[in-house]
Amino acid sequence: MCGIVGAVAQRNITPILLEGLKRLEYRGYDSCGVALHVDGALQRSRSTSRVADLEKQVDETGLKGFTGIAHTRWATHGAPASHNAHPHFSPSSDNARIALVHNGIIENHDELRAELTALGYVFQSQTDTEVIAHLVDHMYNGDLFDTVQQAVKRLHGAYAIAVFAREEPHRVVAARQGSPLIVGVGQGENFVASDAMALAGTSDQIIYLEEGDVVDLQLGKVWIVDVNGKSVEREVKTVHAHTGAAELGPYRHYMQKEIFEQPRVIGDTLEGITGVMPELFGDGAYKVFKEIDRVLILACGTSYYAGSTAKYWIESIAKVPVNVEIASEYRYRDSVPDPRTLVVTISQSGETADTLAALKHARALGMEHTLTICNVATSAMVRECKLAYITRAGVEVGVASTKAFTTQLAALFLLALTLAQVNGRLTDEEEAAHLKAMRHLPSAITSVLALEPQIIAWADEFARKENALFLGRGLHYPIALEGALKLKEISYIHAEAYPAGELKHGPLALVTEEMPVVTIAPNDTLIEKLKSNMQEVRARGGQLFVFADVDSRITSGDGVHVIRMPEHYGQLSPILHVVSLQLLAYHSALARGTDVDKPRNLAKSVTVE
Ligand code: G6P
Repeated sequence: MCGIVGAVAQRNITPILLEGLKRLEYRGYDSCGVALHVDGALQRSRSTSRVADLEKQVDETGLKGFTGIAHTRWATHGAPASHNAHPHFSPSSDNARIALVHNGIIENHDELRAELTALGYVFQSQTDTEVIAHLVDHMYNGDLFDTVQQAVKRLHGAYAIAVFAREEPHRVVAARQGSPLIVGVGQGENFVASDAMALAGTSDQIIYLEEGDVVDLQLGKVWIVDVNGKSVEREVKTVHAHTGAAELGPYRHYMQKEIFEQPRVIGDTLEGITGVMPELFGDGAYKVFKEIDRVLILACGTSYYAGSTAKYWIESIAKVPVNVEIASEYRYRDSVPDPRTLVVTISQSGETADTLAALKHARALGMEHTLTICNVATSAMVRECKLAYITRAGVEVGVASTKAFTTQLAALFLLALTLAQVNGRLTDEEEAAHLKAMRHLPSAITSVLALEPQIIAWADEFARKENALFLGRGLHYPIALEGALKLKEISYIHAEAYPAGELKHGPLALVTEEMPVVTIAPNDTLIEKLKSNMQEVRARGGQLFVFADVDSRITSGDGVHVIRMPEHYGQLSPILHVVSLQLLAYHSALARGTDVDKPRNLAKSVTVE
């Protein structure tokens, strides 16, 4: 999703801006651009290809400067075309007085566009961003900081912007409302970015701007005003942001690497846990867990499926009722709030706009007990929640989430145990048995990864199909949903998941010889029911691809293909089964030759609604 980097320095900042864009690349984008102050004029370069292509263009034209901004764009308003790529200039390309980049969505852009068109501005793009550039130009009074403070008052919606003016060569002004933005403080130079990771290696002195802040960046000065225009001091934190993508090593794609990292990162996430303790979720967690009667989980995408799995665990182990809601739905629907609710957000990035907004909505409804399960300790989500459990998946580069998901599951299982303990529902023996099973996860996952050659054989067959069904029951229904999501995200095969008992209520109509039906068959209490559902498929000629637990007594035969899962894993079984589905999606995509790590139209971190 969109990324911003900006700098004011006394050295050529082109490499810093491009390096920053590269660090943000993994989030997904479809075009990119950079603008610099060059000899009293504004110049830019834009590309609808990769940042590497932009870098080549910049090298060829020799674009250099001390003040500038750069952007990766994920199209919302207007196609991914060069004229829609940021930075946007105003009043026009040949006579640029203002350059601006923007993340977010301006909701009143139509109205502003009409107003600015009537004033004589000619729009070069379909973006909502160009509206802000012209608005700043129109309101410009010789002081960019003051102008931006006035201009943002006209904007409705979410934005993080960075802007500079031809008349003020050593100044970048930035502002945020609803989209993240940070400042990197340097020695006689200052930076702005949408994420601290963009500045790794450049500045580790980071200020997290707050909602409504406007910041003035000059060579030796960072001046921030808050939403009321009042001068404010914000804490400067030392942040050792990850230095971006690690090496691929022996793997072809980051997704494959990340699938294979799961034994290690689950081990890291659980490291040092010697017992179930509320404090693992933050100071004061015991008191909070004591005060709640129910749990509300808010998340999007893969994180939502982690929450859906956790519902089964928390209700079964802790006997606490759980509601799981898709964040983008929850934030806009009328719900019945209960202040004795633990609101749990789950997010890999900690930046997802819908999840952040849903959290704020829950708080506005009077639900103050908030916990996040998040992979980025410095993210907005962690800062906004009272309690946090940081998963240690490390940077996840592949857009399709894998290791972040399984570490979320490990953390959520621990939450279920903790709530059970606080409610007096966990005996010492049960605690010891669960912890033992959790500690064994890394080696159990390693055995699942060893199934890769068998899964590759299936994937070759899947790659020729256009549709697939995934079936699961109980705890494994959310895993079927996640398996289908993985397959469609990266292989573009249409995939649907159903609780197996629902098959006869509709999806059975789709089953023919051409329809592969992936079945998750753990040896649990529902196994006999599941076997009946499999018969329903076979009777219609459907091809079954079954991941069966070692002791489930399902065997390969006509139209039934079985891969045997190495061990039966009880309540933690979803964490093992999903790994085989990740491999199936990965190898199907590989066989179809798609861009596995950067699937079309998708972004890693969705910072717009
Ligand atoms: C995007 C990503 C998904 C992710 C979802 C939620 O759609 O492509 O992989 O599951 O956002 O992201 P979060 O960072 O909040 O977990």
